Amino acid sequence: MEPLAEHPASRDPATPSVAVPSSVQIDLLADSGNGNTAADAAQGSFRDPAFMANRDTPVHRWVPWIAGYSKHFVQDALARFMVAPGVVLDPFAGVGTTLVEADLAGHEAIGFEINPYAAFAARTKLKAHRLSPPKLREAARALMIHVHDALHRATPPRTTPPPGFRTRAPFYSPAVERKVLLALDCIGANAGLTADAARLAFAATMVNYSNYSYEPSLGRKAAAGRPEVGDFPVVETLASKMEQMADDAAWYRRQRATRRRRDGHVIEKSFFHGYRDVGAGNVDLLVTSPPYLNNYHYGRNTRPHLYWLGFCAAPSDLKRLEALNFGTYWQNARDRDEVALDATISDEEIRETLRQVRERNPHKGIYGGHGWANYAALYFNDCVRFANAAKWCLRPGGTALVVIGNSILQGVPVPTDRFFARIAETCGLAVVDIHRPRDTRVGNSIVNSSVRTGAAAGERLYESVVEMRRP
Ligand SMILES: C[S@@+](CC[C@H](N)C(=O)[O-])C[C@H]1O[C@@H](n2cnc3c(N)ncnc32)[C@H](O)[C@@H]1O
Repeated sequence: MEPLAEHPASRDPATPSVAVPSSVQIDLLADSGNGNTAADAAQGSFRDPAFMANRDTPVHRWVPWIAGYSKHFVQDALARFMVAPGVVLDPFAGVGTTLVEADLAGHEAIGFEINPYAAFAARTKLKAHRLSPPKLREAARALMIHVHDALHRATPPRTTPPPGFRTRAPFYSPAVERKVLLALDCIGANAGLTADAARLAFAATMVNYSNYSYEPSLGRKAAAGRPEVGDFPVVETLASKMEQMADDAAWYRRQRATRRRRDGHVIEKSFFHGYRDVGAGNVDLLVTSPPYLNNYHYGRNTRPHLYWLGFCAAPSDLKRLEALNFGTYWQNARDRDEVALDATISDEEIRETLRQVRERNPHKGIYGGHGWANYAALYFNDCVRFANAAKWCLRPGGTALVVIGNSILQGVPVPTDRFFARIAETCGLAVVDIHRPRDTRVGNSIVNSSVRTGAAAGERLYESVVEMRRP
């Protein structure tokens, strides 16, 4: 199956100067783990946080995801910090890697996620133990029969493509679109968990048979030198995905620790708006990866899913998501007057780094340093909000593990992990350590940046785990 999007690089032609500090470099890595075991985790090291390991793992493999991290990383965190059943929070839950692992291990799992498609995926996974594998297999068979029958009889589909979903080139060829619409006639007619699983199977595979792909952001296959898709065994692909999900649902039910507790749940709200729903001091362990300082556009890259699954009908819906996103997008920051850093950020290195970014390339107008410095200021201001909210949710002695990647803006290295750690300290969290599970990266993740960003050649992109404790 084709990965959904694996480099958080933006392909927006108007984003020329951010190096691509990937939170995932999945397809460039030959291996997903660093060889550590859960026992190593107990000793204090974490396995590689890249999402690639999830590709072959039941339930995690239901949907590929942008910028997800591996179940191994979460397992290590749980092994090390959760000695008894408790509450695990992921404020930026994505498709629910943290939540699924915490739920499997017998903890109460709570997540926040603003992207309705990601929230839907995470919720459906967390209901895996309630899915009926025979019903899902039956639904897969019914889907095959329905679509083949309709094709044979030349029955026109009742479903129409989402009218608000516009792409430069047709998203699907006529033959593929017909099959997709006939499949949706069948899937859309039902409600309930089986139907949700079928909808998720469609979402997980829908880009594979389109004329678009993630290389690394959503763009035309033709533009990446790949052939367009004239026809495709759409319904067979969907049915086999549903069969896989049925197998995984049975597995999840067997694996899930049996202690009686609430199902893991996802609150579809900004963490900043919803964190008080969790209750003060209720969280034992917070494990998360917020958006990185790399302008990766979650909304744009999930447009097909948002529109075709009916989570979004017009560009204004995407705008609303953009406004909720951690920090903001550079496109929304570049035109503003100088954005001031939060008054609580007194760290001189942070302020000096932003000054350097701001002074770069003034002749480039909105593409110069000013816009990127504004973008970074809004990002670090949200780091303050995040650290304060995290502290509020954690119980005294509770731990927060934040996976964060560095960045290079206009050629200026921005050590986001250290800056976030300093901000968190100002907010009253104790920084225990900054781990570097994977400090050597391969291929184009090593920024030979003199060409692209103007930074010293060889400046590295990396990810860290910032470990913090609420005193
Ligand atoms: C790096 S991804 C998390 C991936 C996750 N660790 C996984 O493995 O699936 C960050 C997520 O944060 C979400 N997000 C951004 N701003 C948010 C906010 N203010 N509140 C909640 N979620 C937010 C994005 O939609 C995105 O899915």
